[in-house]
Amino acid sequence: MKVSFVGAGPGDPDLITVKGKRLLEEADLVVYAGSLVNPQLLAGLKAELMDSNGQSLQATTDRMMEALRAGKKVVRLHSGDPSLYGAILEQMRPLEEAGVQVEVVPGVSSLFAAAAALKTQLTLKGVSESLIVTRPAGTTLEMDELAALSRHGTTLAIFLGTDKIREVAGSLQLPGDTPVAVVYHASWPDELVLLGRLDDIAAKVEAAGISRSALILVGGVVRRTGFRRSHLYRDR
Ligand SMILES: C[S@@+](CC[C@H](N)C(=O)[O-])C[C@H]1O[C@@H](n2cnc3c(N)ncnc32)[C@H](O)[C@@H]1O
Repeated sequence: MKVSFVGAGPGDPDLITVKGKRLLEEADLVVYAGSLVNPQLLAGLKAELMDSNGQSLQATTDRMMEALRAGKKVVRLHSGDPSLYGAILEQMRPLEEAGVQVEVVPGVSSLFAAAAALKTQLTLKGVSESLIVTRPAGTTLEMDELAALSRHGTTLAIFLGTDKIREVAGSLQLPGDTPVAVVYHASWPDELVLLGRLDDIAAKVEAAGISRSALILVGGVVRRTGFRRSHLYRDR
């Protein structure tokens, strides 16, 4: 008995891995993560589908166990890459305790789709050599580390934060003119990129009416300028 935890990618159905697509096509049951998985990835599959949105861990585990005991192939489909804010370990634990094997098939995170939308690098010589991935406090996190992390001056990728963009921007310990991008629905047909600065991005996001499914990227890499050429491609 095995469950494959598969990264669906950021939205564009062409951005799932070949392995992930094959597993989806072979599956008898696909439990998927609601609104962030593009329905086009699920259309035409022979599998039974279960949206995990609003379901308890017990309910999804029971459904997967039932299918496995009937000899069926089970895929747990997560948006982006399952290792980022995917809560996969808490799902694996009861399965593993019941003797089920698990595998993880990586996916293209929305972080990389957002960088692609901006046509930039997340690490850029002379601008920022490091990337911090984080999120603000919310219903599933009591306290965040945004202020302390921002002091490192690296590129910041902030998930799950657009609904509280004003608080997020306010807590970053960076100059008001620090470049910020908010990328909504990266790689979807309605992808939207908002470019601004720390002191005006909240107003832009609110005016655009974006409160979810977006990533906040902070730092000089957003501007695509001021970098030094890499050693790799220097003139010889
Ligand atoms: C529960 S997390 C899942 C992240 C996912 N595992 C990943 O690697 O992209 C959901 C958050 O990811 C971000 N997100 C997911 N898909 C997105 C997309 N296509 N464009 C921009 N942000 C996205 C948003 O910040 C959203 O609130």
